[in-house]
Amino acid sequence: MSLKLNSISDNTFSIEDLQCLVKNELIGVDQIIDQSLKSDIPLIENIAKHIIYAGGKRIRPLLSLIAAKTFNPIIQHETLYLATAVEFIHTATLLHDDVIDDSNLRRGLETAHKIWGNSASILVGDYLFARAFELMVKTNNLTILDILSQTSAKIAAGEVLQLLHNQNFEIDEKTTLDIIGAKTAELFAAACQTGALAGSADTNQAQILHRYGYALGMAFQITDDILDYTSALNRGKNLGDDFSERKITLPVIYAYHNASTVDKNRLTHLFSETDNSSDNFSSALEIIQKNNGFDTAYGIARQFAEQALEGLKFINSPITHSLENLITFCLERKV
Ligand code: IPE
Ligand code: IPE
Ligand code: MG
Ligand code: MG
Repeated sequence: MSLKLNSISDNTFSIEDLQCLVKNELIGVDQIIDQSLKSDIPLIENIAKHIIYAGGKRIRPLLSLIAAKTFNPIIQHETLYLATAVEFIHTATLLHDDVIDDSNLRRGLETAHKIWGNSASILVGDYLFARAFELMVKTNNLTILDILSQTSAKIAAGEVLQLLHNQNFEIDEKTTLDIIGAKTAELFAAACQTGALAGSADTNQAQILHRYGYALGMAFQITDDILDYTSALNRGKNLGDDFSERKITLPVIYAYHNASTVDKNRLTHLFSETDNSSDNFSSALEIIQKNNGFDTAYGIARQFAEQALEGLKFINSPITHSLENLITFCLERKV
């Protein structure tokens, strides 16, 4: 299995390469976004447009569209509503997440809460959730509505669970993986499953796509937690955000478990300091690196990528390679 993964990983894909297959449909999604953001209250439009037009990779709507196309070459108009709803759910959680994490930068711009304040940001997040539900209804598919409603609750529960374990070095691997699963992988899974259903997949096929999406989302978030410390590129958010928030992510947990008592104490000290100096960040980075935190986390991301790939052997479609390329992207991405 890992041989296959190595061979597909030899290629690197930009997000634009992956978008090619459903280029017109993504334009359709942008048009629905435009229509759905109209509001008589300028503050709503300003905040929503600020974050949505700042771009973002649009990977979740891409997943819904590619999942639909996996089972049906013609993508129905209803599927565009679904893909837009998925992006709105994601964007709503970002507005909320940036308040919780007190982040300054999102999609290369100052975060909405830094410009308009926490209350406005949270309320417009709620507004986007509401718009997402309107769009889901337009898919005329109760199963899709059911899956995405349950997923929205799981994402919120994931963020609450993460909050409860803030700065907890004793958090175990399973709980951390559960948090990642709930806050990120569930939406990837639902985007794929509902996309497959919109493309007339049967329940079993849609379930396979759900499992694929879940494993992909796990690989995506774990990679993100590594890039948060290591990426030299401009990712539209600040390097070291997780350290600034004192978030105990997987690389930190693995490093802590591998570390000597001296390094354990240094790490705990660094994560309890309020001083966000670049020296402290560099020290944390060095200890995590030295104790194989990033390598171990990346190994887990690869395992999830292999799981995602494994499920695809049950899918017989002319575009299965696109789903494979998405796995490579999630694992190899630098942005
Ligand atoms: C950010 O997701 C939140 C995480 C799950 C890490 P993305 O990296 O998909 O964000 P955008 O939509 O491209 O900005
Ligand atoms: C991502 O949370 C998941 C959600 C927004 C629900 P993170 O806090 O890990 O992601 P970034 O680093 O802010 O994008
Ligand atoms: Mg965050
Ligand atoms: Mg967060």
